[in-house]
Amino acid sequence: MNALCHERRRGVFITLEGPDGSGKSTQVRLLADRLRKCGIEPLITREPGGTRTGEQIREILQHDRTGEALVPEAETFLFLAARAQLVQTIIRPALQEGRWVVSDRFMDSTVAYQGYGRGLGAEIIERMNAWAVGDAIPDLTILLDLEPTEGLARIGPRNRANGCEADRLEREALAFHERIREGYLALAARYPKRICLLDARNGLDGISQRIWTLVEERFGYGLG
Ligand code: TMP
Repeated sequence: MNALCHERRRGVFITLEGPDGSGKSTQVRLLADRLRKCGIEPLITREPGGTRTGEQIREILQHDRTGEALVPEAETFLFLAARAQLVQTIIRPALQEGRWVVSDRFMDSTVAYQGYGRGLGAEIIERMNAWAVGDAIPDLTILLDLEPTEGLARIGPRNRANGCEADRLEREALAFHERIREGYLALAARYPKRICLLDARNGLDGISQRIWTLVEERFGYGLG
């Protein structure tokens, strides 16, 4: 296995993004396995979640048990609250220790889902993100791109296999998911150095290999 650069002052921060059903959680696991094979124990986290407070916020956001519809602004503040907690208590300390951090979703999700999907606008969400994350900007973001119809078609069988129902955001109309894709593509065009767009229709192994190549190119040495 190629040697990866362990001796960095700040750790490496990688995020995976994409629509529901794009397979990013599986790719987070596969990337973590590859890193472990190189002797790197990454800190794996997810959004919303990753802290006790964040996991409680996730419950509110995903399962809507109050029966009360969340207004888009309240939804946004909840995502941002979970993010601030995660950054300050988990991500930033880990990066300061020089660790690798891999997050299943992060700040780009809010631009895509609340900025575009809910129509709040990218600009205000980017400002809120800047406030919540400070200098904890990902070094690399893998964006798994997928047609919304295909993503939604994958969710049903996945949820059935996991014994759960579609969550509050997954149940939104197709137009909402189309705006999310538009948002993600706009982000990829705006931040071409940080965000790498991959076609989520390629098989699991093909995507995993491509992600690994990107990681080696950016953060590895002694290739080949
Ligand atoms: P997931 O972890 O299974 O992908 O579920 C998280 C859901 O929350 C998913 O539908 C995307 C959505 N989401 C937002 O709407 N805004 C955000 O900022 C984040 C992190 C997630």
